[in-house]
Amino acid sequence: MKLFLDSAKVDEIQHALEHWALDGVTTNPRHVAATGKPAVEVYAEIAQLVQGTDLPVSVEVDPELECWHEIVQQAEELARMSPNFVIKVGASEQGFRAIRELNHRGVRTNATLIFTLAQAWHAARAGATYISPFVGWREEFGDAGLELLRQVRTMLDNYGYSSQIIAAAMRNPRQIAEAALAGCHCVTAGKAVYEQSFNNPFTDLGVQRFAQAYRKTLAPA
Ligand code: E4P
Repeated sequence: MKLFLDSAKVDEIQHALEHWALDGVTTNPRHVAATGKPAVEVYAEIAQLVQGTDLPVSVEVDPELECWHEIVQQAEELARMSPNFVIKVGASEQGFRAIRELNHRGVRTNATLIFTLAQAWHAARAGATYISPFVGWREEFGDAGLELLRQVRTMLDNYGYSSQIIAAAMRNPRQIAEAALAGCHCVTAGKAVYEQSFNNPFTDLGVQRFAQAYRKTLAPA
């Protein structure tokens, strides 16, 4: 399962590139806003970071665009900024129409804000490169977000759709593990969630115990 970082912060992406063998980046307008910089500046910085690699970077069109023609136009403008850019388009009738057109034009897309199997199916039929079910948001409301991942994988396999699932809005290491068991192609999470996923209190306890024992095995100076 590929590891994508959900962030628009250059220092976080740089860290993940250097230490985590990062497979890709996903941004959204909230992440871009959190940098405090204009989107074009942020996108240019990220494009430079990944230049010369084949790492996909998802960047989102204006979520308020309602007409598929406008979505396609803005998506093409964003795609021209970097060959790494994959265009995030929100689930809607017009959004799926735009994804279909962008697919015809050779622009890679990430169908975002996916909350149901039917939405994922529309995205797959339209030729979305990636489909992003928002697991964390659903689970926060008490819904079975992880079950949706399994269902989307089954649907893709049943019909041979080529879209890849990005398990999105992960909130803890358990959700990452469940995404892997569900057969997701990629997972995206924020830096803090991945940091949590490296560790476990039993590991810390084990390090203490073994360090104590290790010291006893050293030859006297
Ligand atoms: C994924 O592509 C989204 O950017 C992300 O997971 C959205 O949710 P969040 O910002 O609440 O984590």
